[in-house]
Amino acid sequence: MSERTRRVWTAWQERQPRLIADVLDALGRSEGTAFGTRLNVCLADLIEPLDAVYGGSTDIADLCERAVRIALAAAGARPEELRLLDRRREVDRDWFQRPRMQGYVCYTERFCEKLANLPEHIDYLAELGVTYLHLMPLLQPRPGENDGGYAVMDYRAVDSRLGTMHDLEEVATALRSRDMSLCIDVVLNHTAREHRWAQGWLTGDPAYADFYIAFPDRTIPDAFDATIPPVFPDRAPGSFTWVDAALGGTGGWVWTTFWPYQWDLNYANPDVLLAMLGEILWLANRGVEIFRMDAVPFLWKRLGTNGLNQPETHSLMQALNGLVRLAAPATVFKAEAIVAPEDLVPYLGAHDRYRPECDLAYHNQLMVMLWSSLATKDAELARHALGRMDPIPPGTSWVTYVRGHDDIGWAVTDTDAASMGWNGFSHRRFLNDFYSGRYGDSFARGALFQQNPLTGDARISGTTAALCGIEDSLDRGDAAALEQGVRRLVLLYSVIYAFGGVPLLYMGDELALRNDRTYLDDPALAADNRWMHRPWMDWAAAGRRHDPETLEGRVFGWLQRLGAVRRDVLALRGGTDTVLLDVGDNKVLAWRRRHPRSGTFVGLANVADTDAVVDLGRLAGLGDLQPVLGSDPMEVTDGRLRLPALGFWWLAEP
Ligand code: GLC
Repeated sequence: MSERTRRVWTAWQERQPRLIADVLDALGRSEGTAFGTRLNVCLADLIEPLDAVYGGSTDIADLCERAVRIALAAAGARPEELRLLDRRREVDRDWFQRPRMQGYVCYTERFCEKLANLPEHIDYLAELGVTYLHLMPLLQPRPGENDGGYAVMDYRAVDSRLGTMHDLEEVATALRSRDMSLCIDVVLNHTAREHRWAQGWLTGDPAYADFYIAFPDRTIPDAFDATIPPVFPDRAPGSFTWVDAALGGTGGWVWTTFWPYQWDLNYANPDVLLAMLGEILWLANRGVEIFRMDAVPFLWKRLGTNGLNQPETHSLMQALNGLVRLAAPATVFKAEAIVAPEDLVPYLGAHDRYRPECDLAYHNQLMVMLWSSLATKDAELARHALGRMDPIPPGTSWVTYVRGHDDIGWAVTDTDAASMGWNGFSHRRFLNDFYSGRYGDSFARGALFQQNPLTGDARISGTTAALCGIEDSLDRGDAAALEQGVRRLVLLYSVIYAFGGVPLLYMGDELALRNDRTYLDDPALAADNRWMHRPWMDWAAAGRRHDPETLEGRVFGWLQRLGAVRRDVLALRGGTDTVLLDVGDNKVLAWRRRHPRSGTFVGLANVADTDAVVDLGRLAGLGDLQPVLGSDPMEVTDGRLRLPALGFWWLAEP
């Protein structure tokens, strides 16, 4: 510990008795003792990261006390029902690790129009085994273009087209009564330019001084832009936008990593952190249990870097997590960090030393590797890349997913590609060609997103069903290809439901919904083809879900089965490692899991359009593995399991 940090601790110790007396006053003996105990437990995880970020310029003991008092006010205002949930979760810290946890992701409007209609669809979710519902951005966005709701102008109001904050609370309560958790986005890197903070900053309100970042000329922006890759190169190149009213009206280049109307917050100012903390806690008290921390890698800016994953970003997340836990221990953070595999694991707290940070993180690498494997019809790159990832801390989990609302960016590192003897750039270009349907034998019907003519990079849009070949085969009336497409979709979900962590089902995949082109008719959406894979729920198609003769019935039935079987397999609980296996056929992605109280689980997935053979001898020593769920009848000859094209098996010890 540095001399400076030691001084912070001493200063803190002087403040603590008065603070604790106030805690007991405000919360009473029982709640106050719980709060004080939590504070003791997390104190190091507050003081040290705050000191690391702000120690040079701020009185850290004072900052920490201000932050803790914000948490205290939120704890005092926390509704009784949520305090009971806190009690349960403090006893059952691993609640989000259980195999019963299974997510569903949808846009409120596209799923059921309004929040008030959501409770009547909970039975539909329950049929799929859902215990976690992520409602896509629903806080008050700016008018007009809003990046799918990721340009928030008020964190304490719901988009009036969807309903009211009261409706959101009712949804949270309805979900909770069915043992389901509500997840929403916290857009913490930026606000809409129309947000009260941004407007206050523009007009020189001292309360919002330094809330955003602006430069009078291009010198510094050019220096940053030289090393920061643009997120939206085709329509929003660079990370800055000229704003006439900035810098007291003389004009300035405002930091806008994403679209010009999304202004990056200046986390170098500790008041920004405290303001965001206040918003998160307010939402926690409305009944949100899981916060999807949007675009976290971008929080801290540093010249000469790619602007991602800076150490201060991690410190900020650590401090926020500790503070939110302090007031609302029932909540968890999920990191949206779509970055290279070596940069991903630290968001779960795996640094040189463990530091509690986010509890969940998107397993972007698994998602990318699955699509890459389907295109190459070979799982070796996936086995290699997933196998070399660092383990995650035991108290954390992945969220696994096949498809989300964003484009797929090909996070295949050059090093991983080289281990196959491939050139990274060429492989990524092949994947773009393949999934945009421009490659010879491609079954996919995706589209390129954000093609960058300077670098040749691009990403992919399209629904799971479109990328799996279902759309193409239906259009061509090719029954055999449709069968393969369905098998591909089920195969992908068979992996993410059993890889460890919380699987997310993206709305519409359970019915194999195809690309939606209606976005082209809406001028606020037309230029962003990610809307093609954000379809409107097709309730007529959902009406066919119980008919196994239909496409919808088949896919829905499989997703139900995957969920139902998963719930009883303890080895699929998060918090333990997934180990990649070599079963003697590169077409097969194979992995094993184990939990201290369970036997072994092995998953097998043949990513190719031809049969594979699994040498069961290679699984010898892993225990008495029995078939639990598979795509086809079990066929074993002389110790070799035939795994038909695009087939899967889950095996587990009884
Ligand atoms: C996240 C969202 C994406 C959005 C961006 C900016 O990456 O998933 O949809 O464009 O953040 O908020």
